Amino acid sequence: MAFFEWNDSIALGIPTIDGQHKALFEWVNTLDAAIKNGDESEAVGEVIMNLITYVTEHFSEEERLMTSCNYPDLPAHRQEHDQFVSRLREIQVNFLHGHKIAANVLDFMVEWLVCHIKGTDQSYSRFIHQRV
Ligand SMILES: [Fe+2]
Repeated sequence: MAFFEWNDSIALGIPTIDGQHKALFEWVNTLDAAIKNGDESEAVGEVIMNLITYVTEHFSEEERLMTSCNYPDLPAHRQEHDQFVSRLREIQVNFLHGHKIAANVLDFMVEWLVCHIKGTDQSYSRFIHQRV
């Protein structure tokens, strides 16, 4: 069973971004499954790396979209993104130093993503939709 199921309450109504958010949660679910399956640490490390790559690309795309719309709160939004990526990199470094990924780390990822999407992302989504 999936650790977290995407649902319409976190939809922005921007299909490309919603698709990327779904994919992000799938990466978290993949990581959860890899840990629970007791996969080799190399496999878990690869999932963490892919998750960070995907998150980074997704955040860049959101920031490009906000830039193209002259969204005024982009700097604060970008700061949230940067903090999350820094946290993920810390998790990755800890893992590479032999520390197990704790369940609360996955809870943190899901909670951060849901909170960010429902708050910060929905703000830019409203801004974009108002302009159309
Ligand atoms: Fe965002």
